[in-house]
Amino acid sequence: MRLKGRVAIVTGAGSGLGKAIAERCASEGASIVIADMNQGAVDATVKELQAAGHQAMGFKVNVTSRAQLKELMQATEDKFGKIDILVNSAGITRNRPFKEMNDEDWDIVLGVDLKGTFFAVQAVADYMIKHRYGKVLNISSLGGLGVGGHAVGGSPGGSSNYQAAKAGVIQLTKTLARELGPHGINVNSVAPGFILTPMTSTTRTPEEVKEHMAVRTKTCVLNRAGTPQDIANAVLFLVSEESSFISGQTLLVDGGRTDKI
Ligand SMILES: NC(=O)c1ccc[n+]([C@@H]2O[C@H](COP(=O)([O-])OP(=O)(O)OC[C@H]3O[C@@H](n4cnc5c(N)ncnc54)[C@H](O)[C@@H]3O)[C@@H](O)[C@H]2O)c1
Repeated sequence: MRLKGRVAIVTGAGSGLGKAIAERCASEGASIVIADMNQGAVDATVKELQAAGHQAMGFKVNVTSRAQLKELMQATEDKFGKIDILVNSAGITRNRPFKEMNDEDWDIVLGVDLKGTFFAVQAVADYMIKHRYGKVLNISSLGGLGVGGHAVGGSPGGSSNYQAAKAGVIQLTKTLARELGPHGINVNSVAPGFILTPMTSTTRTPEEVKEHMAVRTKTCVLNRAGTPQDIANAVLFLVSEESSFISGQTLLVDGGRTDKI
């Protein structure tokens, strides 16, 4: 039980990677807050965790709202007495070729993926500072390192908004590590490669998904596609005591992609 007695909030935990992370942290003994804007997904995930014997509560939150994030933090402390871990997994894509990308595409992706992460850490900081303990884990992306959005193998391409947002998350992680480190808070990031989730499957036709999976399998030295559990395992390490001397880092979890720019 590597997270026994810990309290973890996971944004975007109603689906995909956030859900797998919540399940993994719960399986290691943490009490979990499922924080997502999709109320149905929040309720279903909380139900699943509780049915498996874990401590869990749900909270509907839009990470672009400072007010809602403030309520989330207070509700968590009211229920569990403290906040030890924050995983920022809420994220979206709006792909479009650069020359056609409009203000709305740009603003919504930067708003959720980058500003939402900034808002959430700002909202949780005082709760962690007062206990002189905290683990913040931001889900960035291989895309934030300039890799991944190629229009190949069913990839829609055109993700300048997403890649800029995720590059911002990687740099924000370093800055926050510096500013929050003196308060006993580690801030790290996991950068996933391609993982099949609702985000990546619903933006493609089934044929494109198949084609994309084949390309991603071939261009990865481990010759397999990654799973949400691969990401959850890396996150678990970075929010556990085993990584207590690591901060400001971005861990690439991509199976060893060979097509890095
Ligand atoms: N799947 C991949 O291949 C991949 C690769 C690299 C990075 N990522 C990143 O991983 C994270 C999770 O992605 P996923 O694949 O699990 O996607 P997903 O679509 O399956 O899950 C995202 C979740 O975030 C929630 N969400 C979206 N906007 C929100 C908001 N404003 N406030 C609160 N919740 C919101 C959604 O309701 C959903 O439950 C994202 O940050 C994504 O950018 C995913």
